[in-house]
Amino acid sequence: MGFDPTFEGRVKLPLIVAPMFLVSNPALTLAAISQGVIGSFPAHATRTREIFKDWLDEMEAGIAELDNPAPYAVNLVVHPTNKRMPGDMDLCEAYRVPIVLTSKGAPKDAFARIHDWGGIAFHDVASARHAEKAVEAGADALIAVCGGAGGHCGTINPFALVNEIREVTDKPIILSGGMSTGRDIYAAQAMGATYAYMGTRFIACEETLANERYAQTLIACTSKDIFFSAALDGAPANWVVPTLLEAGVDLNKLATTIPGEIVDSGKVDKRYSHVLSAGHGVGMVKKVESALDLCAQLKSEYQHAKTALSA
Ligand SMILES: Cc1cc2nc3c(=O)[nH]c(=O)nc-3n(C[C@H](O)[C@H](O)[C@H](O)COP(=O)(O)O)c2cc1C
Repeated sequence: MGFDPTFEGRVKLPLIVAPMFLVSNPALTLAAISQGVIGSFPAHATRTREIFKDWLDEMEAGIAELDNPAPYAVNLVVHPTNKRMPGDMDLCEAYRVPIVLTSKGAPKDAFARIHDWGGIAFHDVASARHAEKAVEAGADALIAVCGGAGGHCGTINPFALVNEIREVTDKPIILSGGMSTGRDIYAAQAMGATYAYMGTRFIACEETLANERYAQTLIACTSKDIFFSAALDGAPANWVVPTLLEAGVDLNKLATTIPGEIVDSGKVDKRYSHVLSAGHGVGMVKKVESALDLCAQLKSEYQHAKTALSA
């Protein structure tokens, strides 16, 4: 492995709080890293580069107040269609962002640049072929985005995808999709993953940008309320059924709609602006709580699972 997964003991739980558009922010990220959990947010969640810079400043100020926090990560869409990429990458370099979560495309120059400032790059993959290309281009670890994940997701079962990735590379794997408990994190390790990557479980945390409607909707939902479709914005994603129905979407029609081109989230039809996303793990979102408490609970569940299963 090209990097120390504990970051010199600063990572206390093998978990990354995944980047979530319109949910993650510096407050959630700081809460996670203060608990020894890697936290993250997407650069594209900020409307302008100035706001992105403000978020990075907020991270630096917050980190200065913490005792030996875990590292944080920024999600960058490294595909050439992301017009903000060059400037956002410049800012990541200026702030020496320790981990960059890269998605879409796998350009060699982006990975080389991240390595030049001492950063490491974890790249999103949804198939073994994506993994092969990302490793060739220089990614340090692969985020296996499986079926059941929130947001833009993969379609492959986690066991199948991890096994296939293992046939093409021994780079560290970060498992994503449907995990909610400390026991799930331990299970991800048993499958050969270095970290678990959890998004949905954190949406209803007090620190996030999610509003009361989002939190209460998720609390009322279980996995049967999640609908998979690539037809809303052109990319495969999991959507929350009650919010699709509220927007007047006919689920039977959606199930048979052929996806169009991938469109920028800002350009998705206004009708869909209140449609929310979550993954199959939504059934474990039971209350609005602090991410500090949630991280502490996950650490304790993880230790119990480790003790119980190794006994
Ligand atoms: C509301 C929402 C927004 C997301 N936005 C992004 C994003 O901007 N960038 C990204 O790489 N992944 C995004 N994701 C995917 C997550 O990073 C992660 O892969 C996923 O949440 C893991 O699955 P889980 O939700 O079942 O835990 C998003 C997920 C959710 C639920």
